Amino acid sequence: MYMYIAPSILSANFGKFIDEVNRIEKAGADWVHIDVMDGHFVPNLTFGAGVVEALRPNTKMTLDCHLMVANPEAHVETFANAGADYFTVHYEATSHLHGLIQTIHKHGMKAGVAINPATPVSAIAPILKDVDMILVMTVNPGFGGQSFIESTVNKIAELSAFRAENDATFLIEVDGGINAETARICAENGADAFVAGSYIFNKDDVKQPIDALKMAIK
Ligand code: DX5
Ligand code: ZN
Repeated sequence: MYMYIAPSILSANFGKFIDEVNRIEKAGADWVHIDVMDGHFVPNLTFGAGVVEALRPNTKMTLDCHLMVANPEAHVETFANAGADYFTVHYEATSHLHGLIQTIHKHGMKAGVAINPATPVSAIAPILKDVDMILVMTVNPGFGGQSFIESTVNKIAELSAFRAENDATFLIEVDGGINAETARICAENGADAFVAGSYIFNKDDVKQPIDALKMAIK
């Protein structure tokens, strides 16, 4: 199975998004992870579809949008028009998850569902065959630079076992506190997509941490 490295531009220089994205693309990243925060579902505020629209003509990488927002339904159309590839919503942010997944697909995007550290896999069992990706949050959402929460690992294993037993096709993405060591643990338990913010952008040479992640998950 192919493994995807998805640097999060939450830790990039906000004044130079296009340069930063070019830098990670050259260094071998697969996806750009775009953390959309609304100051409501999570306390922090970041950016919206305008950033997706600005990046789209400047990169071939998959635009992996992680919506940490209340009422994600309201943003499907604008993100689709902006050129988003994955539109990942939080289980905790909507009462109409199944319908929302259908709407995301109708707009031509891949649908992802994220679960917070306190949310069990059983909560999303009914939609596991309908989604393209499950994002297991390995920190509480809201900020970059936090420490990996070990108790989330058994959820990766549980999803991986479900996928194998049911011929399901969703990817398993992990996000938060990912470095070479935690990425290795997640990969061993079945993760396929690895978001990393501070681990990549805190280095002058972004190729070094991207290579280290690739080595760790092989
Ligand atoms: C956290 C975001 C993450 C964040 C990860 O709410 O969803 O994508 O950028 O940052 P690091 O890799 O620094 O934990
Ligand atoms: Zn994220």
